[in-house]
Amino acid sequence: MAEDLIIQKGNKQEQYLSLIPQIKALLEGESDLVANLANIAGALKEQFNWFWVGFYLVKGDQLVLGPFQGPVACTRINKGRGVCGTSWAKSETLIVPDVEKFPGHIACSSLSKSEIVVPLIKDGIVWGVLDVDSEMLNHFDETDKIFLEQIVDCIKS
Ligand code: SME
Repeated sequence: MAEDLIIQKGNKQEQYLSLIPQIKALLEGESDLVANLANIAGALKEQFNWFWVGFYLVKGDQLVLGPFQGPVACTRINKGRGVCGTSWAKSETLIVPDVEKFPGHIACSSLSKSEIVVPLIKDGIVWGVLDVDSEMLNHFDETDKIFLEQIVDCIKS
């Protein structure tokens, strides 16, 4: 497959609608999880240029940093801690418009202002999370939730 991503201009929905088939094409025929997570993080970063986008994977009773794009980040997060650990504990997507108002938020970078975390679920069990951080307040909404959930649904663990 071609490795060049076509970057779509336009509103958020138009950008996701262009990106999702390209992500599916990237994953097609590749069974290696780390390779696929790395390409998804890369594709999302290229399209949206978010401050930080990447994965944490459940290992024992912690989330451990996986493939990501952006500044270096905390490596381990306990279940129920921060936005990622809470998304894991609740098995649900969390949209945080202002991270300073989220009790227990883990500040890997003081530049991060808002965040969305989407759990990766197989057979009812969370096996990781997709975490996206923005330098802008209130950056993420239901559109991001809908499309990012579609994207993580494409990942085969
Ligand atoms: N802020 C996250 C931690 C991960 S970093 O933002 C990359 C949290 O509270 O879970």
